[in-house]
Amino acid sequence: MTPFIMVIFGATGDLAQNKLMPSLFSLFKDKLLPKDFFIVGFSRRDFAIEDFHKYFATEKEDPRWGVFTKHLFYELGSFEDATAYQKLEKQLEEIDKKMGSSASRLFYLATPPDHYETILDNLVATKLSAGENVKVIIEKPFGKDLETAIHLDKKLAEIFDEKQIFRVDHYLGKETVQNMLAFRFANGIFEPVWNKQFIDHVQITFAEESGIGKRGRFFDGVGILRDVTQNHMMQLVSAVAMESPKSFTKEDLRDARAKVIGSMKMADGESIVKGQYEGYRKEENVSPQSQTETFVGLKLFVETERFAGVPFYIRAGKKMPKEVVEISVVFTQTCHILFKEFGCPEIGNVITFRIQPNEGISLRFIAKKPGAKLGLESVDMKFNYKESFGTSGLEAYQRVLLDIFGGDQMLFNRSDELESSWKLITNILRKWESGKGEIQIYKTGTWGPKEADGLIEKDGRKWL
Ligand code: BG6
Repeated sequence: MTPFIMVIFGATGDLAQNKLMPSLFSLFKDKLLPKDFFIVGFSRRDFAIEDFHKYFATEKEDPRWGVFTKHLFYELGSFEDATAYQKLEKQLEEIDKKMGSSASRLFYLATPPDHYETILDNLVATKLSAGENVKVIIEKPFGKDLETAIHLDKKLAEIFDEKQIFRVDHYLGKETVQNMLAFRFANGIFEPVWNKQFIDHVQITFAEESGIGKRGRFFDGVGILRDVTQNHMMQLVSAVAMESPKSFTKEDLRDARAKVIGSMKMADGESIVKGQYEGYRKEENVSPQSQTETFVGLKLFVETERFAGVPFYIRAGKKMPKEVVEISVVFTQTCHILFKEFGCPEIGNVITFRIQPNEGISLRFIAKKPGAKLGLESVDMKFNYKESFGTSGLEAYQRVLLDIFGGDQMLFNRSDELESSWKLITNILRKWESGKGEIQIYKTGTWGPKEADGLIEKDGRKWL
């Protein structure tokens, strides 16, 4: 693997602390990083290098952490301060000398989206952005709406070649999401029923038990619609509904994703529920009048030959009763004439993809209840990653990072995927801005406002 220097902007932020640094350290422990690599944290926190090392508290216990920190540097500076970038440039030159070779340079923008432009401008001004061995990694949300996303994309295209740009959506790196393609297309028995003729509806739940924690400043300006729906959830819908890519290559996969995201349409009428958990306005760095949503429920359609008319109900929320990300494909229940008089279960066949935790897949079907009398009941047939493979695979950010180091863009967004999903989401945002869509307060530890149940129940269906 090519030696690299990765600069993380926003190195003391939540993402770096909870995902990036732990993933880098795991890759290091598993010997998946090259011998020569350096990570430079860039942040405005007044840290000496030792403070930066100590900051990632949970990793300190491991004796290998000490070895790993020899690869960690720190650059103090605000994103606006031009001199900080000059100092960074010097620091990078020093590291280059140490390596004795010219390593690839990776600039990871792990900051809220309003800093992206400033950072890019400064990289250009110092010419740090120049050179073929440079890559830029942009976190989600990629912009704040369609207009800013297009603007950001143009700016990136002025500075870099497409092959240098990595637009992250770590859900694409989830083992379980990638497995959906294998499940759908490597198993001859599912493909023939994977369409509107057999599928009644699809429901996707993205529930987190925790609230916004210390991320108030970021989250209150973003909301869950931009934070997870525009990106992660659109990709989950895409994994269910996309057509088979022509081949397992970067562009064919991106084509298939872009096509299906471009076919998504919101349902007419009341199809959006906006909620906020009780007590959210008292969270640190949140406005006491905040209208920011911590829950969103949507009903949408995928207007393709395969899925036209099949509703997709999706919901994402913080402070939910449990931690679960799951997709259920619910098949049309046809109570066979043989069993009509004995009563069929309301729900027949369901395939559930458990993205996390307990990663796996289950198939619900109807069985005869044991006993002399005929009675039917739903049962589940289960596959669990850990049981079958002894592991749940790489953590999504480990995969994302490895692909960046290896230059593989397959699991990164292309502009057209983002543009399509932003189109859909921006329409919702504009409605909210014009005063439509009142925010519903929900109790913590519940499945969101009752309107979210109404969203699906008015169609005679239920959240599973
Ligand atoms: C991030 C969001 O992209 O995804 C967070 O910003 C969310 O709000 C997180 O908690 C969920 O990711 P994971 O991998 O923990 O499911």
